[in-house]
Amino acid sequence: MITLNEETEDKAEKAFVIAGINGDIGREFATRLQDYGKVFGISRKKDRLDGIIYEHIACDLLQPKLVQEMFSQLGPFKDMTYIHLPGRFQFQDENHPIKDRNGDGIDDDIFRTNVETFRNVIPYLFNDLLACPTTTLKLVAIGSASDLYAIPYWHSFTHSKNELRRDFRAMYGNPSTYGRVGSLFINVSTTEGRQLSGERPYISKQYLLTPKEIVDQSMPYMLDKKPACVEVTILKPNPDFEKEDFLKPEEIRKRWYRDMYG
Ligand SMILES: NC(=O)c1ccc[n+]([C@@H]2O[C@H](COP(=O)([O-])OP(=O)(O)OC[C@H]3O[C@@H](n4cnc5c(N)ncnc54)[C@H](OP(=O)(O)O)[C@@H]3O)[C@@H](O)[C@H]2O)c1
Repeated sequence: MITLNEETEDKAEKAFVIAGINGDIGREFATRLQDYGKVFGISRKKDRLDGIIYEHIACDLLQPKLVQEMFSQLGPFKDMTYIHLPGRFQFQDENHPIKDRNGDGIDDDIFRTNVETFRNVIPYLFNDLLACPTTTLKLVAIGSASDLYAIPYWHSFTHSKNELRRDFRAMYGNPSTYGRVGSLFINVSTTEGRQLSGERPYISKQYLLTPKEIVDQSMPYMLDKKPACVEVTILKPNPDFEKEDFLKPEEIRKRWYRDMYG
């Protein structure tokens, strides 16, 4: 694994494209990565974030035409890290029904923000690799440490993250670009930020990760040059996890209702 200081030497060669820069984790990554290369930040909003050196790109990744226009002006870069952060979460049960117009059992908005936003950029990431046979690409996304457990109350979210994992593996193992694509899936436990404050305002703060902790712990993997397909988990361990019924659906639901409604 490389050290962070070595990496700053070829700063000019590196581009970090952060889709979803406007979220808490996106902003934290941008703040850190500005020291390691040129940062581009994608958001649907036109307003750029203050206090960070980066190029702001207003683009809705669900609109293929806008994605095409964006990539016609972006890159190709010798060494690009594409960080995919859009990805809604929603607790789902009979009191929190999903929107499922196509009847596949998966909430349409959760699937679209997590997966379709990425599928819309895939052709352009590949085009850049094919156009320039010396360029390299690293894909980064954030999943949940709970994706392992098939929790019924966020089935749509887990399914969507698993689809994204599959896309990452497929891109990593594509024979036409093999050896030039790396991927990093960072699984995190519950994290402080705007999304959590809206969703679970009564949660105890004791075992929450901060976006800074996620960035601190993922930087060595983010900057590692080896084209590997890597998945890491970053946790603030909660001792209650050891209890026999911690992952029982009825217990999860009780905890969540307490955290959501007090
Ligand atoms: N927070 C946690 O506890 C936690 C736990 C597990 C996993 N994660 C994952 O970590 C990632 C980052 O979390 P987050 O809370 O920062 O995510 P987020 O708020 O859902 O997404 C980040 C940003 O993406 C932008 N975005 C959404 N749709 C877009 C679109 N169609 N085109 C372009 N930009 C779009 C939004 O900014 P604009 O409104 O400016 O477009 C949003 O602020 C997510 O994938 C999430 O699932 C978080």
